[in-house]
Amino acid sequence: MGDFIIEGGRALRGSLQVQGAKNSVLPILAATILHNGTSTLHNCPRLRDVDASMRILRHLGCRAEWEGDALVVDAASLTRCDVPDHLMREMRSSVIFLGAVLSRCGRSELSMPGGCELGPRPIDLHLSSLRQLGAVIREGGGRLHCEAPEMRGRELTLSLPSVGATENAILAACGCEGTTVIFNAAREPEIADLQTFLCAMGHKVQGAGSSTITVEGRSPTHDVEHTVIPDRIVAATYLAAVAGSGGEVELRGVDYRQLSTVTAALHEAGCQIHSTGNAIWLRSTGDLRAIRPVRTAPYPGFPTDAQAVLMAALLRSKGATVFVENIFENRYRHVDELCRMGADIRVEGRVAVVCGVERLRGAAVEATDLRGGAAMVVAALSAEGESRISAVHHIQRGYADILGDLRQLGARAREE
Ligand code: UD1
Repeated sequence: MGDFIIEGGRALRGSLQVQGAKNSVLPILAATILHNGTSTLHNCPRLRDVDASMRILRHLGCRAEWEGDALVVDAASLTRCDVPDHLMREMRSSVIFLGAVLSRCGRSELSMPGGCELGPRPIDLHLSSLRQLGAVIREGGGRLHCEAPEMRGRELTLSLPSVGATENAILAACGCEGTTVIFNAAREPEIADLQTFLCAMGHKVQGAGSSTITVEGRSPTHDVEHTVIPDRIVAATYLAAVAGSGGEVELRGVDYRQLSTVTAALHEAGCQIHSTGNAIWLRSTGDLRAIRPVRTAPYPGFPTDAQAVLMAALLRSKGATVFVENIFENRYRHVDELCRMGADIRVEGRVAVVCGVERLRGAAVEATDLRGGAAMVVAALSAEGESRISAVHHIQRGYADILGDLRQLGARAREE
């Protein structure tokens, strides 16, 4: 795999269609096994994490293939209920297969998803939800052995609105006898997309998007076609890129309501922004000002996944902006790399203070994680000279063609 070479200092102009959402498609791919037949997914991005999910599905005995632009999964031939360690390690969100496999097979065996670049990411809420629904889970030798001969719906309360735990609970509840009500559920739009998919398949799920979700289990299912929602974090990345570099962009296929905290921040920084139906238009001179503190929070708060790219857009702004990262402990790994480009950022625990600098210089940097890597792309676009970004496999986990998209906006960017 090559490095990304980006020549900065050019304004970005043009119009782009935004890819389907990674965080929608991964739980939906796990959910395909809740039907003994075919699911056809449209607007599914071609990502490394999608490939990893397809490998898990194939290991389970399903057929998972691209047919033109659609991803088709046939889960009628599912024969296994385990996910081996090497497949679990490829992608942390593989833990979402736990609830889905339990739902379909009444048992499952997975390894613990490893720690990851964002600090410890426990799965205690996933496990306690599944246990409350009747699963008996033994942990040993890095493996999770789950048996659930009888799963019954009941009321569950999550102690915090975890996205993955909410999704796992929904998937498991689809296989339960009776009704499950999930309180303090996460409200992310991707959970609403999972609900749309499951309902189209025949399951009875309602309330996603609010903090109370109700699932009536064991509904009859049928073949389903579904179009994945657009990726709000990819949209936020491109808006941040144009904000930082200057220029004018129209992003098509985006639900502006899902991006309101990001567009509000960019507007406060001095960008002009309009939304028309399902498109967002942004114009920036590239001369931004610092903004009020940005505090990440569960949806509908400011997304933790957009923290790094907004920070990258503000590196040359006038004044100082405070970021408070409330979701993950270790989500400032991009900071040291951005400083190599001349940024002035200080981190103390969950708080980072960005003092705007006059100019950024192109540099050799390493993508530290998915969104941190995207932040380096955003910073490189507004830096003087050339940047080389290595370890871009992190970026390719979540962006189908970030360089192609940016070239469409006039950026000088290539893989070497
Ligand atoms: C999902 C997204 C990720 C996003 C995150 C927060 C996917 C595939 N990934 O990740 O891009 O950054 O939501 O919006 O959708 N926690 C526990 N115990 C648990 C589960 C979570 O303590 O059992 C904590 C986590 O450590 C973290 C917080 O809850 O501090 C939020 O995590 P969660 O919402 O679960 O994130 P993910 O589903 O892993």
